Amino acid sequence: MDGIALFSGRSNKPLAEAMAKHLGMELGNLEIKNFSDKEIWVKFHDNIRGKIVIIVQSTQAPADNLVELLIAIDAAKRASARAVFVVIPYFGYARQDRKDEPRVAISAKLMANLITVSGADRVITMDLHCSQIQGFFDIPLDHLYASRVLLPYWQEKNIPNLVVVAPDVGSIKMARFWSKKLNAGLAMMDKRRTGHNESEVVNIIGEVAGKNALVVDDMIDTAGTFVAAINTLKNNKAEKIYGSCIHPVCSGEAYNRLYRAPLEELVVTDTIPFVTTPDKFKTVSVAGLLATAAMNAATNQSISSLFDKEEMRR
Ligand code: R5P
Repeated sequence: MDGIALFSGRSNKPLAEAMAKHLGMELGNLEIKNFSDKEIWVKFHDNIRGKIVIIVQSTQAPADNLVELLIAIDAAKRASARAVFVVIPYFGYARQDRKDEPRVAISAKLMANLITVSGADRVITMDLHCSQIQGFFDIPLDHLYASRVLLPYWQEKNIPNLVVVAPDVGSIKMARFWSKKLNAGLAMMDKRRTGHNESEVVNIIGEVAGKNALVVDDMIDTAGTFVAAINTLKNNKAEKIYGSCIHPVCSGEAYNRLYRAPLEELVVTDTIPFVTTPDKFKTVSVAGLLATAAMNAATNQSISSLFDKEEMRR
């Protein structure tokens, strides 16, 4: 593609490769190395002067993924790229999006500032932890929804007698949208946070007994929220239980906890690398969606055709 070059950081190279394949392009030559003390060094080996440079990098932990992105943006700017578009399939540090107690940071805003100050001209991201984070950026941001690829998977599966379950109040809007699209019922867990990465379900709102359930959430971190929802559904006599989430952060023991849980199937996206299994864990790729969005942005074509406006309001 003339005047447009696509590069990848190291946080999710398989996704960037799949995006390149979708666009019929090669990934550009961006060398990234660590010094002995682990500081990061990057160099564009291609001439990017006057080009629109698209850099793909999710910013899940470690924070090096974010630093690597910032340094790559800076290098692209200093190499006279015409514009730098960053594709951030998973935007980390998004959960601290307001002061919910005294003397804490709003890390989502800080990350937005760092990306902007580094020289990014546009951000393309997906299922932000809360939509208002879009406004933390003073540069254009395109917000995509993975439901575009996940919903068809579940629609095709056509599970009878289905109820879509929000494992906490934060995911109720997503669950409501999914229940409508899947012609399913809706239920919600009343989850209370008991500490950092700790929570318990105190109540379940909606009919689940005798129904097949699909638990949906934007992300799974420790899997505490997800597994608590699954166990509560079992205790309340749900039949088969399925799960779906956009960003499989899966820290610590999450993967094993999910594998051991009474879950028929868990379907996530590839915004963060995730190991699939033949029996239980599956991924649906968002590469095509992100690639099309990045290319449309670079060629001044519409992006709104890539998401459901109803979901935008959710
Ligand atoms: C909460 O607001 C999110 O939507 C997820 O439910 C939460 O971040 C998942 O965290 P964990 O897997 O550690 O319970």
